[in-house]
Amino acid sequence: MYETSGNLVNSWYAAGLSSGFKEGKPVKVRIFEVPIVCWRKNDGSIAAILDRCNHRNVPLSDGQIVDQCIVCPYHGWVYNGEGQCVQIPSEGPHVERIPTKKVEGFPVKERYGLVWIWMGRSTPPFKDPFPMPVMAEKKWNHYYMVTHFENNVTDLVENFMDVPHTIFVHKGWFRDRKQIRITADVERTSDSVLVTYDQSNDAIGFSSWLINPKNLPMKHTDNFYMPNNTRVDYIYGAEERGFIITSTCTPVAPFSTMVYTLITYKFGWLTPIAKLGLNSYTRKVISQDVWIMKKHGDNVREFGYQDYRSTQADTMHLYIENLRKASEEQKSPPPPLKKEIEFWV
Ligand code: FES
Ligand SMILES: [Fe+2]
Repeated sequence: MYETSGNLVNSWYAAGLSSGFKEGKPVKVRIFEVPIVCWRKNDGSIAAILDRCNHRNVPLSDGQIVDQCIVCPYHGWVYNGEGQCVQIPSEGPHVERIPTKKVEGFPVKERYGLVWIWMGRSTPPFKDPFPMPVMAEKKWNHYYMVTHFENNVTDLVENFMDVPHTIFVHKGWFRDRKQIRITADVERTSDSVLVTYDQSNDAIGFSSWLINPKNLPMKHTDNFYMPNNTRVDYIYGAEERGFIITSTCTPVAPFSTMVYTLITYKFGWLTPIAKLGLNSYTRKVISQDVWIMKKHGDNVREFGYQDYRSTQADTMHLYIENLRKASEEQKSPPPPLKKEIEFWV
């Protein structure tokens, strides 16, 4: 998978929540089918190296952390955070016999409550991790959901940017069918797809009683940022209230993706009440997407991606496919484009 992903690998991918990386415990992750072992050192930084011992290829993640180093469970070779072997028990005191070849290391950054790994193995990092909107102000609250999906990144980001499915997959939970006309501007830049809805007469799920009791006009934008991030904003009035869903996708293997969803919200004095119910509500909604994305993925395996038919409501999906395909094929992105669309929900 790594070899066929072209320039898509040249990015930071979330490896897990920061809270999951405890000192002295190896964490095994898989990104683009590349097995990586990570561990937190006592200065707080995180080491990430290929999960493969140089001696006989045993996974280092099954070993133990001793003195900031990882010890292979088979013959006890010891590796430091840079992947350099520093001790071979069967060589006794002969440190000069230790091979100089390192286990491959990966750049790591910890930001916004996530641990990120740079996957451009032959390309050093040239940008920062995606800025997850972890609003620092008191009025905003946030939490993460970590979800495994049995589908590919392109199909998942399309789902997260998709409005028409909400009245079917999330019927009664997020939006009901009313046959109202919705218009939107869809813009494709060199590295993003930006959708601005004119949807002031629409309402989502719990909005009427929780997020928008005063019935303020809703501003809805759905943005995709290359190669794997989406941000959906529902903002009410002059930013009095808001609900932002940001997702960053980590490809594990074909038809297997970990999704880190950040829910950021500001509901005025109702925020404490929201805290109680929002978590189970958003988990219910995401489980419905997990279900339909598995169904979709299974049938794509059966029929392939060929022969799709698209409507105006799929414009943003086609733009996402254009950008990701160009990056995968190591071509320059297609020229910028803007289009107005209409559809009914
Ligand atoms: S396989 Fe790792 S020490 Fe032998
Ligand atoms: Fe959905």
